Amino acid sequence: MKEIRLGIVGLGHRGRAMAMLSCDAFEYVKLVAVCDKYRRNWFDSETADTREVAFGKDYPDTVFYEDYETMLDEAGLDLVIVETGADVHAAFIIKALRRNINVLTDIPVVASLKEAEDLWRAAEESTAMISVGANPNEQKFTVFLKDFYKRGLLGEPFAMEAEYIHWWLPGSPVERILNENGEWRKLLSPIRYCTHSLGPLLTILNEPLRKVSCFSCHGRSPVDDYLQVNKEDMQSAQFQTDSGVIVRFQRNGRCRAKIGYHNYRVFGSEGYVERLDRFDKPVIRYNTTKEENNALREMSGEYMPPGYENNESISRFHGGMDYVMLLKVYTALLNGEPAPISLKEGLAMTIPGIYAEESAKRGGEILRIRYPWDEDWKVDF
Ligand SMILES: NC(=O)c1ccc[n+]([C@@H]2O[C@H](COP(=O)([O-])OP(=O)(O)OC[C@H]3O[C@@H](n4cnc5c(N)ncnc54)[C@H](O)[C@@H]3O)[C@@H](O)[C@H]2O)c1
Repeated sequence: MKEIRLGIVGLGHRGRAMAMLSCDAFEYVKLVAVCDKYRRNWFDSETADTREVAFGKDYPDTVFYEDYETMLDEAGLDLVIVETGADVHAAFIIKALRRNINVLTDIPVVASLKEAEDLWRAAEESTAMISVGANPNEQKFTVFLKDFYKRGLLGEPFAMEAEYIHWWLPGSPVERILNENGEWRKLLSPIRYCTHSLGPLLTILNEPLRKVSCFSCHGRSPVDDYLQVNKEDMQSAQFQTDSGVIVRFQRNGRCRAKIGYHNYRVFGSEGYVERLDRFDKPVIRYNTTKEENNALREMSGEYMPPGYENNESISRFHGGMDYVMLLKVYTALLNGEPAPISLKEGLAMTIPGIYAEESAKRGGEILRIRYPWDEDWKVDF
């Protein structure tokens, strides 16, 4: 393959960003088709908040479809990027896989155990590649953590922590814009948005998360005037592997301060690594018993991994990690290589959140986590 005929479904904030970045940074990518149920997201400059003019004018050769299956059948795609709401990815992925069209899907990958089963089966029956767009797995922290672990400086992890805290500005224009395309931000249980947090940690864990207990605040947050919902706010889950490694995860979409989104701490038998993101000054700190004095070291914790040019056109998309993610997927496709982040990895970072949500509904009951590739897999809720 010399050029990639790209289609995108879901032209909300993220789909439009993927369109821009793909066209601007990858000359061999041709955005031949896009699809959304709202034409305004492609043709109306009022709603295309991420740039000055409407996309339809900027990309006159790109065909807009209102119907996804028509796009898949007519556009001759090499790859479709799925950017529909976070709780509605699986059906779109499966339709592409059944036509043997390669897929890059955003995360979380599935919204239920049934979807996980259907998707796993569809992937097995398809000749197409499915790659998971877990961009936090490409960030500087993850790259550093994997290398630190591989070099034996961390030892074996025995406890890990992650949190993903998002601000909430009630009634603000940005709050309105984020919710203009659908309900998913209102309705998605926060703990299910666990992929950005678990993904990086799982890269150094050689066994799956097997147990979970989760608690919720049960809608203690005030009803928002605009959203008109009293959604569960902070949720807190503890996971454990069969060998006893503990992973603590805290998730909140209603923080009244912009404190910083993604924090991680990793405790290993030989060392320690953390990324703390507070008020736009993310830092990575680490130490190892393998070095004299056990010295604590520190470096900046920006997203862009080392070795990539940090220019403005790239770094404005999640600090550059979106670029690295796309580069790896497009390169794999051109070279006929396997997906940079596989479906199995994507489900391993998604499914624990589905069990955590169920545990919270049951008042913190400890549940055993199963995956579609397990012999004792079943869809039991
Ligand atoms: N990885 C990241 O850093 C990151 C950041 C933000 C969002 N996301 C993910 O990106 C995805 C999209 O987020 P968003 O903020 O753009 O959401 P959004 O709600 O603004 O956009 C989703 C779009 O999908 C469209 N859509 C829904 N059903 C459709 C259908 N049947 N046919 C055609 N179009 C349909 C909607 O009209 C909407 O425009 C989500 O999964 C979200 O979790 C990831």
